[in-house]
Parts: sequence; C-alpha cells; structure tokens
Amino acid sequence: MEFRGAHILSVKQFVREDIDRIFEVADSMEPFAHRERMTKALDGAILGNMFFEPSTRTRVSFGCAFNLLGGHVRETTDVKSSSITKGESLYDTARVISGYSDVIVMRHPQSGSVAEFAKASRVPVINGGDGPNEHPSQALLDLYTIRKELTSNARSIDGMHIAMVGDLKHGRTVHSLSQLLLLYKNITFTLISPTELRMPEDIVSDLKASGHQVVETEDMEAGLKDNDTVYLTRIQEERFESKLEADIYRGRFRLNQAIYTRHCQPNTVIMHPLPRDSREEANELDNDLNQHPSLAIFRQTDNGVLVRMALFALILDVADKIDRSASEVAWYTESRFE
Ligand code: NCD
Repeated sequence: MEFRGAHILSVKQFVREDIDRIFEVADSMEPFAHRERMTKALDGAILGNMFFEPSTRTRVSFGCAFNLLGGHVRETTDVKSSSITKGESLYDTARVISGYSDVIVMRHPQSGSVAEFAKASRVPVINGGDGPNEHPSQALLDLYTIRKELTSNARSIDGMHIAMVGDLKHGRTVHSLSQLLLLYKNITFTLISPTELRMPEDIVSDLKASGHQVVETEDMEAGLKDNDTVYLTRIQEERFESKLEADIYRGRFRLNQAIYTRHCQPNTVIMHPLPRDSREEANELDNDLNQHPSLAIFRQTDNGVLVRMALFALILDVADKIDRSASEVAWYTESRFE
C-alpha cells in the first residue's frame, strides 16, 4: 500500500509486504524510543489524539511515539467535555479537528465510527479502537512482539500455534490479530472461550478458508497444550448489557504459574493486550507470573511505541529522513532501558 497520507482503519488494508515495511521501520526506531538519539523529524506537526473511550496504553503510547519524533500532541479524552454531547456529528468534529491537526488517532465506542470520521477528515486518521470491531495498531504491535519472541525460540509466525483465550466475541484486539494472521501460512488457532463469547463466525470461516487450523473449545486445560503463544483477554464488561451479565463469565479462564507449568509447553509466550482485570473475581492472568521470562506483556507495551512511531513516520513520509535529522541525547544513560 501507499503509506503516505493513508488512513489506518483496518488490518484488512495490509498485504504482507506492508507488515514487513512497518516492522523494518519499527526496528529502526529503537535508538529513539530508548532515548539514545533524538529526532525533530516531525517538528511543528500536531497529533489530534481523540479518545472517546477509556484508554491508558494506546493513548499515551501514540502520544509518546509522536513526541519522540519531535511532534506535538493535543488530546481530547473525555466525551463529556467534547461537543459530541451537544449533538455534534462525527462529520463536523472531523472537519474541525482535521483543521487543527496533521494526523488524528481516534477511539470511539461504535463499530465503523472511525472509518466514518475518516471520510470527513482532511488529514490521515488512525483507528485507536472502534467498539468491538478493530484495533489495528494493537494487532501490529502484537504481531511484532510475537515475531520477536518466537525468533528467540527459533520459531516463526508461519506454522505457529496460538491459543486465544477469553472474550473472543467482543475483544477487538483478537479480531484484528486473527485477521492480520490471514496474511501468514499454516497457523493453528485454539480459540478458548465460553460458547456465548466465541470468535465471530465470519472471522473463523476466513481463517479456515485461508488454510489455517481452527479449534474452538471451552476446555482451557486441553487447549493450552502445544502452543507457541497464549494470548489472554479480559471479559469486555463495557460491551455487555449489565455488569451482572459480564459477571457470569468473569474468572472462567485464568492462567497462573501452576496452570502454566502443568499445561503449557516450556517457553510458551504469554501475551495480553492489557489492561488485565486483576480483581479477585476475574484475574485472568495472575501476578504470580510477573517474573516469568515468557511473560511478554510489558515487552508488548514497549513495542507499541516502536510500531506507532513507524506508523506516523510512514504516513507522514519521514521514515527515510529521520537519520539525517537525528542528534545525540545529552542525558542518555544505558541503565535506563535495561
Ligand atoms: C484493549 C482495547 O482497548 O481493546 N486495550 C488496549 O488497547 N491495549 C483491550 C481491552 O481493553 O481489554
């Protein structure tokens, strides 16, 4: 695809070469993310970071990524303080905000809303999550993490086994990651969820049609066997009619040290898009795995900055100009990123 000026709305817009290009640029961002070097490549540019749903990682890492490229960030984080509560349409908001920004990241509770917003925007728009539909930058950082982790286990994305666990019906991260994996070959998916929260049928049939193996099960212990990666998700309470309904499913599937040791093969990479629901009644990923070398959740969040820097650099067409604008960072200390 042509990245320059493009909206990033869905993983379906990518071909495999696009992913390779994004990852190549993400790799080259490491010295900047680690503060060894500094760039002003996006000096003067403004990111409109518009989050109409709760977010910590996605919002802050998009903002940091833009800052690390030398740009400025303007944020709207609260629907209540935005004119959307006065009945303003997405069209009007898009026209206005795109007059103030060079690129926009948007999160919104409705499926398809970010694409609608992008139609009216005069600058590129990145989907930071549209309801239960998609979360393309998360899928990219997840895949980037999987690639790195599996390389150190002498495995590759093609031919890997991955288990996805939890609320696969409402989880936009697993929707986007699965659809991104359509670009790869011969993957075995074990989809572990309550029957009512299964992965949407159209995604499952697309996976099968692309030659992947798909097993759907409610048996977590059996499903955990023989995977390269286990990707856990929380019950997406905000997508249910009531908290009570979400409570029915909370805590059904949990991973902790004892279960990992008993049922997972050694070196199985443990992933979660975060936030993990650490309340006792949920706790899908226990703190007793925090020191486990295969726990990749905080490497995922670190990688998120690299991947989001790569997206900005490609969309705003500075990926090949960064080196020229780079300088050393006076206060850089090696110990900071050990
Ligand atoms: C996810 C999201 O918002 O979809 N979080 C994130 O962006 N890292 C997952 C979740 O909220 O469960």
